[in-house]
Amino acid sequence: MQQSLSFAHRYEPSARARAPTLLLLHGTGGNESDLLPLGRMIAPGATLLSPRGKVLENGMPRFFRRLAEGVFDEEDVVRRANELADFIAEARGRYGLPAPIAVGYSNGANVAAAVLLLRPEAMAGAILLRPMMPLRAAPAASLQGKPVLLLSGVMDPIATIASTAGLAAALDGAGASVQHRELPAGHELSQADIATARRWLASATSQEAEAAVA
Ligand code: MLT
Repeated sequence: MQQSLSFAHRYEPSARARAPTLLLLHGTGGNESDLLPLGRMIAPGATLLSPRGKVLENGMPRFFRRLAEGVFDEEDVVRRANELADFIAEARGRYGLPAPIAVGYSNGANVAAAVLLLRPEAMAGAILLRPMMPLRAAPAASLQGKPVLLLSGVMDPIATIASTAGLAAALDGAGASVQHRELPAGHELSQADIATARRWLASATSQEAEAAVA
């Protein structure tokens, strides 16, 4: 674990040329090591940057405070999303990284969504696994074609399809290139999440490379 930046985090430099940079954001009760295996499966050889959420709920790390299940402390969401965007900028300077693609699960997906809406420059795109709309009213963000994949579980009692669809609409309205897929799963991740995220990322990063040479 590296601690010298503003978040405790893990950093794994890329093992291959032109591999993407992923920002891994864990769920409630997780930590900076949790999603490293997922990142390696979604993008073998990618650069991985994985911070630990600073908020503790009964000792469980999270990325922002909530008042109850699914009821968020919005002032804290805004503050913590800005704090995370500042950390991303700090880590990019320290490690010489491009803007990362976030891979967030549950609470990590929700904070990634808040960063996209509040500080769009911080991320190149995002894979949001079981996300919900983190803010009651979407701020006027400009996401200019940023690729965002949202994966819902049709049996998920926490991040319901309706709440994820509201977030997808907000991102789409801000100009992001949004794909929202429903998988036969609950709140937990499934093999289908990994396979879908992997395919989507390969296509999103090859389109980005084509745009760079065009
Ligand atoms: C949240 O609090 O961000 C969501 O309810 C997901 C969770 O962490 O359970």
